[in-house]
Amino acid sequence: MHCVRKVTEDLYWVGANDHRLTLFENIHPIPRGVSYNAYVLLDEKTVLFDTADWSVCRQFLENVEAVLSGRPLNYLVINHVEPDHAASITEILLRHPETIVISNEKAFMLMRQFGFSIDGRYEEVKEGDIKSFGKHTVTFVAAPMVHWPEAMVTFDTTNGVLFSADAFGTFGAIDGKLFNDEVNFDRNWIDDARRYYTNIVGKYGPHVQYLLKKAAGIDIKMICPLHGLVWRNNLGYFMDKYIKWSSYEPEEKGVLLVYASMYGNTESAASLLATKLVEKGMTNVYMYDVSNTDISYLISETFRLSHIVFASVTYNLGIYPKMHNYLMDMKALNIQNRTAAIIENGSWACTAGSLIRNFLNDELKGITVLDDTVTLNSSMTSAQEPSMDDMVTSIIDSMK
Ligand code: FEO
Repeated sequence: MHCVRKVTEDLYWVGANDHRLTLFENIHPIPRGVSYNAYVLLDEKTVLFDTADWSVCRQFLENVEAVLSGRPLNYLVINHVEPDHAASITEILLRHPETIVISNEKAFMLMRQFGFSIDGRYEEVKEGDIKSFGKHTVTFVAAPMVHWPEAMVTFDTTNGVLFSADAFGTFGAIDGKLFNDEVNFDRNWIDDARRYYTNIVGKYGPHVQYLLKKAAGIDIKMICPLHGLVWRNNLGYFMDKYIKWSSYEPEEKGVLLVYASMYGNTESAASLLATKLVEKGMTNVYMYDVSNTDISYLISETFRLSHIVFASVTYNLGIYPKMHNYLMDMKALNIQNRTAAIIENGSWACTAGSLIRNFLNDELKGITVLDDTVTLNSSMTSAQEPSMDDMVTSIIDSMK
């Protein structure tokens, strides 16, 4: 049975939700599922904007056919070739021998690499090209590295709808609620939106900034992304988040306390630091165990907050492997402009602190590492309390 929603008078959402997938890209947990969005425009010509993941292909095809209601499908616009959106191209083209695929040169190269059959049925467009489908005229805007090199967005100049590809997407199945004003986004969706952006597109901040600059020059009324909700009002809220995330500026003053603890002693010290921060008035403090928190959540929180405290045991004369993995992911995602503090622990040959400090100074950009390091030898005692109090003072002073 088809399951579609009307977006505007002649535009329909024909996507589908996936609640079964546990790991997006086989790496990021998605406990609330994910939606794969695609849209059909019924103009003088009919147009499908993108397809869907193979896992939801059957539902997606039923939706497309229901909206077309017997009409031919004249065009398929592909904004992004990653298979979570493009995997069903061949199925569409098999069912619709009349369809011409519209996309750019790089996208067609990728389609061939993935084995999608488009031979003789494509129309190549580039930045700034214009195409009319009848009442609606669209223009194509390159969006390289948001999130693949071929990515583009399509802007309908007739009604202000932006088909934004991965940009402005979120994790989370939409479950009937298509529009941003049908949910409490700031309460129920922002964490998944941040975790999606930071882990999927976070590395490409300058490219996102470039796209945002282009977007500022057009009158966008509605954003139709490839995942998550359609935005039809309050666009500035989400744009502001994107400006912050893509420029690696924190959303809030606050402390992310990530700890690596084998027997609870480092955790205990981290708890004491958190308590001392709260007692001094800094209540925006969040603790995460690096061993049992999926890294996608740590990265998301790292983008959100201004300060990070690394509390790590020494392991094989190095940084605890899961903490090291977190640092490596921070580097891979280009995280910048944060203030850091370090608690280290080692029963003998304690090296974690200096290694973390060197990593932050040498491998990341724009990280201010506070001078105070709290050094534990196996466990926290009153002997280390003055150094922890100094660290609390330094963290709070650095927020002023
Ligand atoms: Fe949702 Fe880059 O694909």
